Amino acid sequence: MITIKNLTKIYDKGRTVALRNIDLDIEDTEFVSIMGTSGSGKSTLLNMIGGLDVPNEGTIEVMGENLSKIKLSNYRRETLGFVFQLHNLIPNLTCLENIELPLFGNSNSSSQMKDKAMNLLRAVDLDEFANKHPKYLSGGEMQRVAIARALVNNPKVILADEPTGQLDSENSEMIMDLLEEKQKETNATLIVVTHDFEIAKRADKIIKIRDGQIES
Ligand SMILES: Nc1ncnc2c1ncn2[C@@H]1O[C@H](COP(=O)(O)OP(=O)(O)OP(=O)(O)O)[C@@H](O)[C@H]1O
Ligand SMILES: [Mg+2]
Repeated sequence: MITIKNLTKIYDKGRTVALRNIDLDIEDTEFVSIMGTSGSGKSTLLNMIGGLDVPNEGTIEVMGENLSKIKLSNYRRETLGFVFQLHNLIPNLTCLENIELPLFGNSNSSSQMKDKAMNLLRAVDLDEFANKHPKYLSGGEMQRVAIARALVNNPKVILADEPTGQLDSENSEMIMDLLEEKQKETNATLIVVTHDFEIAKRADKIIKIRDGQIES
């Protein structure tokens, strides 16, 4: 599903080697968690799988396609759901409109988009906030909206960078239940970066990164 070969990422003209010769295979429908200390390269790895950043060396293949050879904007829209460490909601759109965003550019009517977005908002138990702007929500609620937005396209690959970083344990469980439920429903591959071992151990496999390398 995802095949990474000899991946290296260097920042600051060589001063920071964020990832060093990483090889990694992630199976179709697998749930993998990534752990490691701050600065070890977790977000860098996720961003490159998500087509948000490009490697200096090495290749990433997702569903048989080399990311350096395809149009990343299409890949992000059609294949991926990305949950960021900070929710990244658009402040001047309502919650419902934020969730509808990834559906633009696909062939959906506006009522279909609204229905899909509403279903996801219901799944995160926030339907009453549909027409409110994000600033009226708590941090945990914003993160739940961000997750609804990441899932609205039924992505084949779900990437989440510390999706529960700012949440209490009850909300964290709800978010993880939702991510896993959606993953199973759509047979997606799920990759979650986390500091929380309780979250990490829910995965089929835990990958540990240290100083830009995978610990075996
Ligand atoms: N855009 C950038 N420019 C320069 N250096 C960067 C950039 N992004 C990350 N780095 C550096 O690359 C290394 C890996 O960073 P990364 O964000 O991947 O760590 P992380 O494991 O996600 O950490 P955290 O747990 O704190 O989120 C760090 O040394 C960081 O300072
Ligand atoms: Mg990070």
